[in-house]
Amino acid sequence: MGEKEGRRGILGWIFPITNLERLLYTLHRITGIGLTLYLFIHIYETSMRMYGYETWTATAEFLENPLFHFGLLLVVLAALFHGANGIRLILQELGLIAPKPTQPVYPYRKYHRDRKIWMTTILMLILGAGVAVFALRDFLILLGVM
Ligand code: HEM
Repeated sequence: MGEKEGRRGILGWIFPITNLERLLYTLHRITGIGLTLYLFIHIYETSMRMYGYETWTATAEFLENPLFHFGLLLVVLAALFHGANGIRLILQELGLIAPKPTQPVYPYRKYHRDRKIWMTTILMLILGAGVAVFALRDFLILLGVM
């Protein structure tokens, strides 16, 4: 990485977009922060129960619309992605899917392009996408589209 590239700041999280590992890293960070924000909002929302039945039903009615349902769909998709990618990262960071170490002989093998790591990445993407289809279906049923 050149000196110029190092100064890209937050844009460096996203570009080059063709780098899958970088994209997954950025999405992991965004979904992690998003889920943390949701956790606090969710605690605030459910804490309305302590103001009595009336406030609680008014809160539930306020939240009962397509916009908030869409928000919940995003939370489910974010949790799905973060969970699946998190497991991939744990496996990778603990070295459980790491390739066997070899002598560093030129031309050097690219660790990130190892087959086991790619297979795990692809498997996690397929699993995540599979469950996401069900979340999307439930959302469309809720909207009355399906
Ligand atoms: C199945 C459940 C989850 C798994 C397996 C998981 C896994 C992980 C892992 C492995 C990391 C470190 C990534 C790295 O090595 O760079 C991480 C980061 C993080 N996680 Fe989770 N996580 C889970 C659920 C959650 C939930 C529920 C929240 C929020 C309420 C959350 C918030 C975060 C945040 C904020 C980060 C830091 C992101 C960053 O600095 O880029 N995670 N998670």
